[in-house]
Amino acid sequence: MPQLIAGNWKMHGLTTDAVALARGVAAGAAGLASELLLCPPFVHIAAVAQAVLGTSVLVGGQDCHPAKQGAHTGDISAPMLRDAGASWVILGHSERRQNHGETDELVREKVLAAVAAGLTPIVCVGETSDQRASGEETEVVGWQLAGSLPKPFSGVVAYEPVWAIGTGKTATEQDVAVMHAFIREELERQFGTEGETIPLLYGGSVRPANAGSLLALPHVGGALVGGASLKVDEFLAIARAATV
Ligand code: 13P
Repeated sequence: MPQLIAGNWKMHGLTTDAVALARGVAAGAAGLASELLLCPPFVHIAAVAQAVLGTSVLVGGQDCHPAKQGAHTGDISAPMLRDAGASWVILGHSERRQNHGETDELVREKVLAAVAAGLTPIVCVGETSDQRASGEETEVVGWQLAGSLPKPFSGVVAYEPVWAIGTGKTATEQDVAVMHAFIREELERQFGTEGETIPLLYGGSVRPANAGSLLALPHVGGALVGGASLKVDEFLAIARAATV
């Protein structure tokens, strides 16, 4: 299975920036061994989907509401994402969990809504620096997996240690290897054979300089990239570091 290199653009860029970035990525995507996914802010999804039309580049959202429709001012539903041209969605990102108080239960409801709308969810898990300092990182991630993933689960899991996001502090290869092995074991325990093949991504200060070594680790099926996904050259350099 090709590795997935996903760009989470977070709340960056106006339409012209989004279209230029998407076109730049699409122009460099041909012949790459990895799959590329761009997750722009909601308002740019249609323009980005149009910009990458006819290429292998995939488009996703950064969140969705658990309901299909209703009185939810400011929210976006999974069918709306699909309608705008997305086929993927990031759910349970730590910035959503922290800034919007999202619980594992809510994330699980969103996953169900996403799958029902035909979107592939990327569910994020990861511990804070305090949780790691007190040695609770695997316990925390185990609970997040148990609470956030519905059974059966059809999607991708991204391990993003909160302390490594946007800080330039990448987790060490050892940290990533240990946690990914734990997540694989936990998914097999919770899901049986289905858990053997759920793709796992690493996210948190992935850069061209560290991508090769992180993407070569066992159980790492790709990367979820924040800051470096906003630059065509950096994102493509990360994509070129991916393995098949
Ligand atoms: P950075 O790559 O900027 O650390 O962000 C990671 C992330 O949160 C991707 O979802």
